[in-house]
Amino acid sequence: MGINTDLRDLAVAVATEAAELVARRQREGVDVVATKSSAIDVVTAADEESELLIRGRLLAARPGDGFLGEEGGDQVSESGVTWVVDPIDGTVNFLYGIPQYAVSIAARDADGVVLAGAVVNAATGHLFAAALGVGATCTPSGGEPVQLRVRDSGDDARQWLVATGFGYVERVRAAQGAAVARLLPRVRDIRRAGAAALDLCALAAGQLDGYVEEGVKPWDWSAAGLVATEAGARLEVVAADDGREAVVAAPAATYDGFRTLVAEAGLVRPR
Ligand code: IPD
Repeated sequence: MGINTDLRDLAVAVATEAAELVARRQREGVDVVATKSSAIDVVTAADEESELLIRGRLLAARPGDGFLGEEGGDQVSESGVTWVVDPIDGTVNFLYGIPQYAVSIAARDADGVVLAGAVVNAATGHLFAAALGVGATCTPSGGEPVQLRVRDSGDDARQWLVATGFGYVERVRAAQGAAVARLLPRVRDIRRAGAAALDLCALAAGQLDGYVEEGVKPWDWSAAGLVATEAGARLEVVAADDGREAVVAAPAATYDGFRTLVAEAGLVRPR
């Protein structure tokens, strides 16, 4: 077993435990404890509890590692490895009981290269896991792992199903909405499922032809981005306005066409 698979296995064990906690808290009732970038960008008690559990487990297993979590408590790495964690991606779905929210854990090296990742849909128990150079799998709750592979999308953009998402700040989402309105007539359809990590896992599973979103953070895309690239996608992080970043991902064979399409719609900067 190499280092990447060891990191993946730790990410899987901890994400699975945290997802069980998150699912239990959803059944018990969700408490909003704070807001972040705007009044609709909520933090729940379960976000904080899940992140504490994940941080504790990871740093107990590997004390010299760094930690970067959505809810704070960052730690600088001494080992070179940093864990990048979203304790609940899809918090609004979690709040409303829509079964699309996930725990996301990635390990990246000192150069920012993601080595391993695990994403668990806490509502359904689906586990997505990847290690760099080793491939990506999906394991349904109580089932066997299935190797993931992106779909053969073909060159005709009118046949592409595209996932995206929106930030929580009014001015930013107004621009995102206008860009999506330009994209919509040019593709098969748009999906907005509400959890960036699960969008990227869906791309890996061949359920989408592309994913693009401006304003996502490393904890949203690091683990699931590796799941997607190990399944045959190409993913780019593109600089956007005001220091924000956009993620563009599509099957490698059709990536260039997808990148051009979303730039023409104004979702990301052109190359
Ligand atoms: C959000 C989700 C959503 C995306 C937002 C993210 P959160 O993460 O991934 O799909 O559109 O950009 O902020 O806040 O639920 O962890």
